[in-house]
Order: sequence, then C-alpha cells, then structure tokens
Amino acid sequence: MRILEAESLSSTNDYLKAFIPSCEDLIVTAKRQTGGRGTKGRSFLSDEGGLYLSQLKFYRDFPASRAFSVMMHAAAAVCRCAEAFGVSPEIKWPNDILVGPDRKKLCGILIESGMCGELLDYTVIGIGINVWNDVSALRIATSLYAETKKIIPVREVRDALIEQLLLPFEPEAYFSHLRFLGEKIRVTEGGKEYFATALRVLEDGRLEIQTQEGLRALSSAEIGILPRRSV
Ligand code: BTN
Repeated sequence: MRILEAESLSSTNDYLKAFIPSCEDLIVTAKRQTGGRGTKGRSFLSDEGGLYLSQLKFYRDFPASRAFSVMMHAAAAVCRCAEAFGVSPEIKWPNDILVGPDRKKLCGILIESGMCGELLDYTVIGIGINVWNDVSALRIATSLYAETKKIIPVREVRDALIEQLLLPFEPEAYFSHLRFLGEKIRVTEGGKEYFATALRVLEDGRLEIQTQEGLRALSSAEIGILPRRSV
C-alpha cells in the first residue's frame, strides 16, 4: 500500500477523496491540518505534534451491514498503538479513545464511506492522535505527552499505527477495550437527553442500554460516561 506524507493539508480525509476514482488503497499523513474535521460537523484541532492519518480502503463483496467492523478495527488499532507507548486506553462507544481516570480523549476517528447498493465500496478512515501537541486548552483532551511525560516522535506513532491498521481484523481487540459497560451513561439522542446503563455493544455496532422503560439498542447517539463517584 502506498503511504504518502504531507507537511500540511486541509484535511487528510478530504485529500484522499480525490483518489477514489483510482480505486487504489492508500494512506496519507500530514504534520498539521488547516481544516481538520471531526464527527457531527465539528472541527478537529490539528496543530503540529499530532498524528493526522487517513486510510482509503476498497472492499469486495463486503455487506454494508458489517461496516461497523471497520470502526472497530480502527479503534482497536489505535488502542494497541497507544499501548506500545505506555498508556492504557479504553474505547467509548462507538470509537472515541479515552485515557486515565478522568477519561480524557487521546484520539478521534472519523470514518466516511461509499456504498454500492447493499455493499460497502470504500471507506476513508481518518484518525487524529494527540502525540505532543498542546491540548491544554481542551478540557476533555489529553496527549501521549501529557500521559507519559515523554516526547515521542510522531513518526514512531505513525509507524506503529500503520502496522496495527494493516493487521487482520480481530473483534476481540475492540471488545476487550470497552470498559464502560455496566456504568451509568447520559444519552443525547434527537435533541433529548436521558440516563441509562450501558450493557453491551452488539456485533452490528448498536449499543444496548437499560433505560427506565426497558432495553434499547442505540445505533447513533452521543453518550457521556458519568463519573463513577456520581453514580
Ligand atoms: C472526532 O473525534 O470528532 C473525530 C476526529 C477525526 C480527526 C481525524 S484527523 C485525520 C482525519 N482528517 C480529518 O479531517 N479528520 C480526521
């Protein structure tokens, strides 16, 4: 697979979209992004010192109903990569990577995909990991530097992440990093907010929760894990 490296891009995800007609699997990294994008239309702070990587991947005969496995693989790859540098990350459904007792965000993942009927055609898997960039202005963010007090070269993190991304998918690598199951969560869904207990992530990616009204399976919603002491 070709791996491209750039100094500065608007967004590594957007850059790779220009390669979709060529049907070539590719990875690109940038030292910084000027228009880094997050989920739900948010922006993603992308100063130098972070790893900004996108992977363009094409599929054959891959049912769109299994698309969540792409997210699972990316999240597990980030966790294993971070572990190689001495931190113990966990996954907040669906794919935020959190670290430490305050559950600060080390990495964000944005996956954009194209379908062909019922089949998945391609995905652009965008990953932003805070390595030594300054995240002190973001209350909920952390970095490998903040966690380990070591300045790790971004290149080393990039190589470790690419190695993990290119390994075969192992569902257990995702499930074993879910530590919030059994805990109370705040669910924000369609403008409404309510509390529930997180039970399990189903194979299709839905989060099963226990609410006061009974069991529900969420396919898209924002969740916040309540601090353990307030439960
Ligand atoms: C989120 O937490 O909301 C997802 C953030 C995803 C950021 C990465 S950085 C590399 C790729 N390029 C982008 O513009 N976004 C993703």
